[in-house]
Amino acid sequence: VRNAENQLGLPPQFQGFDLTSLHPSPITVAAPLVTTTNSAFPALAQQTVAIVGLGYVGLPTALAFADESKDLSVIGIDISTDRIQHIQQGHVDLIPADIARLDRVLASSAMELTTDSTAIERADVVIICVPTPVDKHLTPDLGALKSACAATVRHARHGQTIVITSTSYIGTTEDLLINPLRERNLRAGSDVFVAFSPERIDPGNTTVTQDMVPRVVGGATPDCTKRAAAVIGRIAPVVHVVSSPAAAEFSKLFENTYRAVNIALVNEMADVARRFDLDIMEVVGAAATKPYGFSAFYPGPGIGGHCIPCDPHYLLWHLRGERGSAPLVETAMARTAARPGQVVSRTVEVLAQMGRSIAGAHIAIIGVSYKPDVQDVRESPALEIIDELLAAGAHVQFHDTHIPILQLGSGERLESQPLDALQDVDLAIAHTIHADTNLDRLASFSAVLDTTYRLGSLPNRHTL
Ligand SMILES: NC(=O)c1ccc[n+]([C@@H]2O[C@H](COP(=O)([O-])OP(=O)(O)OC[C@H]3O[C@@H](n4cnc5c(N)ncnc54)[C@H](O)[C@@H]3O)[C@@H](O)[C@H]2O)c1
Repeated sequence: VRNAENQLGLPPQFQGFDLTSLHPSPITVAAPLVTTTNSAFPALAQQTVAIVGLGYVGLPTALAFADESKDLSVIGIDISTDRIQHIQQGHVDLIPADIARLDRVLASSAMELTTDSTAIERADVVIICVPTPVDKHLTPDLGALKSACAATVRHARHGQTIVITSTSYIGTTEDLLINPLRERNLRAGSDVFVAFSPERIDPGNTTVTQDMVPRVVGGATPDCTKRAAAVIGRIAPVVHVVSSPAAAEFSKLFENTYRAVNIALVNEMADVARRFDLDIMEVVGAAATKPYGFSAFYPGPGIGGHCIPCDPHYLLWHLRGERGSAPLVETAMARTAARPGQVVSRTVEVLAQMGRSIAGAHIAIIGVSYKPDVQDVRESPALEIIDELLAAGAHVQFHDTHIPILQLGSGERLESQPLDALQDVDLAIAHTIHADTNLDRLASFSAVLDTTYRLGSLPNRHTL
């Protein structure tokens, strides 16, 4: 139990909030945080938990519930039959501990898998984990979330606890669950229990795993919060309660906007460092020795994945509708959007220093996923870098042990090449270095543009 006394004032509706009723053993409940251990919650015993959306978030979440305790039944629901089949066959991108969990869960039939959303009716708890991307105009694409919430409302029944974990705009829970449920005469706080609890999982991270990360929960009423905290407390070490779903929604947008802005800042500092012929990694490492007031972020070729490039746009889009703005965030996102273009400009510059033109140059991209050790290329800067290099007349090949085929914006498909098959390369661009990347082979290229800033010992290394 983490005691977080004296940090903030307890919101009025949580005065007297008592989680001990959900626990078999006494716990310390410290204002203002509802801090729980993930020890058994009798309130959930023998209950059925449905997870809607079984992707990078939903599948580990379903496995955590299914593996955590034999007293729960778990139903995994996904609209994609392909996805359900891949899960059944174990062909999914998970950290080794979750692969082991999946094996156990599949062997024991502890989790039902279905594409049928009517299964929601059988659940006591519904957790919604569907994607919330942005479209090509950087406008939130709420299609999946609207449809998952509509199905949940359609099949909701008395006594259910319903939690959205997908990142979304402030007011989502009210717009997509609380109000539509009321139209079905299901009132949040008395008939059903509705909350928002943003997911914080870091796919591919084996050091800080989902079960180690505290979760924020904000319910429509104190009773909603209490029930949702009991659910989320089964799979999280600590539950931090906020006063409303909107506060929980905003907390997630703030977390990821903070990260996006700081990455834009450190990228700019990396450009400054190169101008002064300094090593940005040495500078960040030095600044990070300060024990307060500084968090280390690291530069790179841009940002990718489903969260950091998308989530700040949920805030900016919403603000535009309110005739508001957040200029600092807008600038950071614009700088970040320009980063892959900067990689291409620097490629042109490095080739020119070698007496080569970009047109006709042979370029190898090393690692194309958006971060190390995942099979996810969504929003990966590599996609834009490759498209721009091809448009400039370069010959581009890539190597990535995690990505066999890469679908480009143009529709063209590139196949990953073994590192040894990449011959006569004018310039290798180190984009993502996986744990199994052969650094010795990388060192044998005649020139490497290191967009990761982590390959200081490579000969013929050029920084971004
Ligand atoms: N991936 C991350 O690193 C991460 C981390 C924290 C939070 N999040 C957030 O979690 C949410 C889910 O992200 P993800 O990465 O798991 O997405 P994902 O694309 O990996 O998976 C989503 C799954 O939902 C399914 N789906 C889509 N619409 C559906 C519907 N109407 N009903 C049922 N299933 C449906 C898809 O088929 C897919 O299998 C997003 O809001 C994301 O921002 C993601």
